[in-house]
Amino acid sequence: MNIAIYAGSFDPVTNGHLDILRRALHVFPRVTVATAETVSKRCTFSLEERLNLLKQVTRDMEGVEVRAFEGLLVEFTRSLGAKVIVRGLRQTTDFDYEFQMATMNARLDSDIQTVFFLSSLEYLHLSSSLVKEIATLGGDVSQLVPPQVEDAIIQKVK
Ligand code: COA
Repeated sequence: MNIAIYAGSFDPVTNGHLDILRRALHVFPRVTVATAETVSKRCTFSLEERLNLLKQVTRDMEGVEVRAFEGLLVEFTRSLGAKVIVRGLRQTTDFDYEFQMATMNARLDSDIQTVFFLSSLEYLHLSSSLVKEIATLGGDVSQLVPPQVEDAIIQKVK
Protein backbone atom coordinates (compact mmCIF):
# COMPACT_ATOMS: atom_id res chain seq x y z
CA MET A 1 0.00 0.00 0.00
CA ASN A 2 2.87 2.34 0.71
CA ILE A 3 4.67 1.83 -2.57
CA ALA A 4 4.83 4.80 -4.89
CA ILE A 5 5.79 4.63 -8.55
CA TYR A 6 8.06 7.37 -9.85
CA ALA A 7 7.80 7.03 -13.61
CA GLY A 8 9.62 8.90 -16.32
CA SER A 9 11.69 8.52 -19.42
CA PHE A 10 14.92 9.27 -17.47
CA ASP A 11 16.87 9.84 -20.70
CA PRO A 12 19.12 10.08 -18.73
CA VAL A 13 18.40 10.46 -15.01
CA THR A 14 19.55 13.84 -13.66
CA ASN A 15 20.13 15.37 -10.23
CA GLY A 16 16.67 16.92 -10.63
CA HIS A 17 15.07 13.48 -10.79
CA LEU A 18 17.10 12.31 -7.78
CA ASP A 19 15.92 15.39 -5.86
CA ILE A 20 12.28 14.38 -6.51
CA LEU A 21 13.05 10.76 -5.58
CA ARG A 22 14.61 11.81 -2.25
CA ARG A 23 11.56 13.95 -1.48
CA ALA A 24 9.26 11.05 -2.29
CA LEU A 25 11.23 8.79 0.07
CA HIS A 26 10.40 11.18 2.93
CA VAL A 27 6.75 10.30 2.42
CA PHE A 28 6.73 6.77 0.99
CA PRO A 29 8.90 4.01 2.48
CA ARG A 30 9.26 2.31 -0.90
CA VAL A 31 9.52 3.93 -4.28
CA THR A 32 9.72 2.01 -7.53
CA VAL A 33 11.45 4.04 -10.22
CA ALA A 34 9.93 2.95 -13.49
CA THR A 35 10.91 3.64 -17.04
CA ALA A 36 9.57 2.44 -20.34
CA GLU A 37 10.22 2.31 -24.03
CA THR A 38 8.30 5.53 -24.67
CA VAL A 39 6.10 5.88 -27.68
CA SER A 40 5.87 9.65 -27.42
CA LYS A 41 9.56 10.46 -27.84
CA ARG A 42 12.71 8.97 -29.20
CA CYS A 43 15.23 8.37 -26.44
CA THR A 44 18.99 8.89 -26.75
CA PHE A 45 19.72 6.07 -24.31
CA SER A 46 18.31 2.59 -24.80
CA LEU A 47 15.93 1.21 -22.21
CA GLU A 48 18.72 -1.02 -20.90
CA GLU A 49 21.14 1.92 -20.62
CA ARG A 50 18.55 4.04 -18.80
CA LEU A 51 17.80 1.20 -16.40
CA ASN A 52 21.50 0.57 -15.74
CA LEU A 53 22.15 4.23 -14.97
CA LEU A 54 19.10 4.40 -12.70
CA LYS A 55 20.28 1.29 -10.84
CA GLN A 56 23.79 2.68 -10.40
CA VAL A 57 22.72 6.06 -9.07
CA THR A 58 20.07 4.69 -6.68
CA ARG A 59 22.19 1.78 -5.41
CA ASP A 60 22.66 3.32 -1.95
CA MET A 61 19.13 4.62 -1.56
CA GLU A 62 17.13 2.48 0.82
CA GLY A 63 13.61 1.58 -0.30
CA VAL A 64 14.26 2.15 -4.01
CA GLU A 65 13.72 -0.41 -6.73
CA VAL A 66 14.23 0.20 -10.46
CA ARG A 67 11.91 -1.48 -12.96
CA ALA A 68 11.04 -1.36 -16.64
CA PHE A 69 7.42 -1.44 -17.70
CA GLU A 70 5.40 -1.78 -20.86
CA GLY A 71 1.98 -0.43 -21.65
CA LEU A 72 -0.06 1.85 -19.46
CA LEU A 73 1.47 3.30 -16.33
CA VAL A 74 -1.74 2.79 -14.34
CA GLU A 75 -1.73 -0.92 -15.22
CA PHE A 76 1.89 -1.29 -14.13
CA THR A 77 1.09 0.59 -10.91
CA ARG A 78 -1.87 -1.67 -10.22
CA SER A 79 0.19 -4.80 -10.98
CA LEU A 80 2.52 -3.87 -8.11
CA GLY A 81 -0.38 -3.29 -5.73
CA ALA A 82 0.56 0.41 -5.62
CA LYS A 83 -1.89 3.30 -5.58
CA VAL A 84 0.36 6.31 -5.99
CA ILE A 85 2.19 7.75 -8.98
CA VAL A 86 4.84 10.34 -8.16
CA ARG A 87 5.67 13.17 -10.52
CA GLY A 88 7.90 16.20 -10.15
CA LEU A 89 6.81 19.75 -10.90
CA ARG A 90 9.47 22.24 -11.93
CA GLN A 91 7.69 25.30 -13.23
CA THR A 92 4.19 26.42 -14.11
CA THR A 93 4.84 25.27 -17.67
CA ASP A 94 4.89 21.65 -16.42
CA PHE A 95 1.44 22.09 -14.94
CA ASP A 96 -0.77 21.78 -18.04
CA TYR A 97 0.92 18.61 -19.22
CA GLU A 98 1.04 17.04 -15.76
CA PHE A 99 -2.58 17.98 -15.08
CA GLN A 100 -3.61 16.29 -18.34
CA MET A 101 -1.65 13.12 -17.54
CA ALA A 102 -2.86 12.95 -13.93
CA THR A 103 -6.51 13.42 -14.88
CA MET A 104 -6.25 10.87 -17.69
CA ASN A 105 -4.56 8.37 -15.37
CA ALA A 106 -7.31 9.01 -12.78
CA ARG A 107 -9.89 8.37 -15.44
CA LEU A 108 -8.19 5.11 -16.40
CA ASP A 109 -8.04 4.03 -12.74
CA SER A 110 -9.74 6.16 -10.11
CA ASP A 111 -8.05 4.22 -7.27
CA ILE A 112 -4.64 5.55 -8.29
CA GLN A 113 -3.58 9.00 -7.11
CA THR A 114 -0.89 11.20 -8.63
CA VAL A 115 1.20 13.01 -6.02
CA PHE A 116 3.41 15.95 -7.05
CA PHE A 117 6.64 17.02 -5.43
CA LEU A 118 8.03 20.47 -6.14
CA SER A 119 11.51 20.60 -7.55
CA SER A 120 14.25 22.34 -5.56
CA LEU A 121 15.06 25.83 -6.86
CA GLU A 122 18.44 24.75 -8.22
CA TYR A 123 16.82 22.18 -10.51
CA LEU A 124 13.87 24.21 -11.75
CA HIS A 125 15.38 24.70 -15.19
CA LEU A 126 16.90 21.26 -15.58
CA SER A 127 15.81 18.70 -18.16
CA SER A 128 17.47 15.66 -19.70
CA SER A 129 17.45 17.31 -23.15
CA LEU A 130 19.23 20.41 -21.87
CA VAL A 131 21.90 18.31 -20.18
CA LYS A 132 22.50 16.39 -23.42
CA GLU A 133 22.65 19.60 -25.43
CA ILE A 134 25.17 21.19 -23.06
CA ALA A 135 27.34 18.05 -23.13
CA THR A 136 27.16 17.84 -26.93
CA LEU A 137 28.44 21.42 -27.14
CA GLY A 138 31.32 20.65 -24.77
CA GLY A 139 29.82 22.26 -21.65
CA ASP A 140 30.27 21.06 -18.09
CA VAL A 141 27.34 19.01 -16.78
CA SER A 142 29.02 17.76 -13.60
CA GLN A 143 26.69 19.82 -11.37
CA LEU A 144 23.60 18.56 -13.17
CA VAL A 145 23.99 14.78 -13.22
CA PRO A 146 25.73 12.12 -11.09
CA PRO A 147 29.29 11.20 -12.23
CA GLN A 148 28.23 7.86 -13.79
CA VAL A 149 25.66 9.66 -15.90
CA GLU A 150 28.14 12.35 -16.90
CA ASP A 151 30.53 9.65 -18.17
CA ALA A 152 27.72 7.92 -20.07
CA ILE A 153 26.60 11.17 -21.73
CA ILE A 154 30.14 12.07 -22.75
CA GLN A 155 30.57 8.62 -24.33
CA LYS A 156 27.22 8.94 -26.09
CA VAL A 157 27.77 12.40 -27.59
CA LYS A 158 31.41 11.82 -28.63
N1 COA B 1 14.31 17.27 -12.91
C1 COA B 1 14.83 17.30 -14.14
N2 COA B 1 14.12 17.05 -15.25
C2 COA B 1 12.83 16.73 -15.10
C3 COA B 1 12.22 16.66 -13.84
C4 COA B 1 13.00 16.95 -12.72
N3 COA B 1 12.51 16.93 -11.49
N4 COA B 1 10.93 16.34 -14.00
C5 COA B 1 10.74 16.19 -15.31
N5 COA B 1 11.89 16.43 -15.98
C6 COA B 1 12.10 16.43 -17.44
C7 COA B 1 12.65 15.14 -17.94
O1 COA B 1 14.07 15.14 -17.89
C8 COA B 1 12.14 15.15 -19.36
O2 COA B 1 12.98 15.98 -20.11
P1 COA B 1 13.24 15.77 -21.67
O3 COA B 1 11.90 15.99 -22.32
O4 COA B 1 14.22 16.79 -21.95
O5 COA B 1 13.74 14.35 -21.82
C9 COA B 1 10.79 15.85 -19.28
O6 COA B 1 10.83 16.58 -18.06
C10 COA B 1 9.62 14.90 -19.30
O7 COA B 1 9.56 14.20 -18.13
P2 COA B 1 9.43 12.63 -17.93
O8 COA B 1 9.33 12.46 -16.47
O9 COA B 1 10.48 11.86 -18.58
O10 COA B 1 8.01 12.35 -18.50
P3 COA B 1 7.48 11.93 -19.87
O11 COA B 1 6.59 13.01 -20.28
O12 COA B 1 8.54 11.52 -20.82
O13 COA B 1 6.57 10.68 -19.45
C11 COA B 1 6.09 8.46 -18.75
C12 COA B 1 7.15 9.44 -19.22
C13 COA B 1 6.77 7.10 -18.72
C14 COA B 1 5.62 8.82 -17.34
C15 COA B 1 4.87 8.50 -19.71
O14 COA B 1 5.33 8.43 -21.04
C16 COA B 1 3.92 7.34 -19.45
O15 COA B 1 3.14 7.37 -18.53
N6 COA B 1 4.01 6.30 -20.31
C17 COA B 1 3.18 5.10 -20.19
C18 COA B 1 2.02 5.11 -21.18
C19 COA B 1 0.80 5.67 -20.53
O16 COA B 1 0.35 5.24 -19.49
N7 COA B 1 0.20 6.66 -21.21
C20 COA B 1 -0.98 7.35 -20.73
C21 COA B 1 -0.59 8.54 -19.88
S1 COA B 1 -2.02 9.45 -19.41
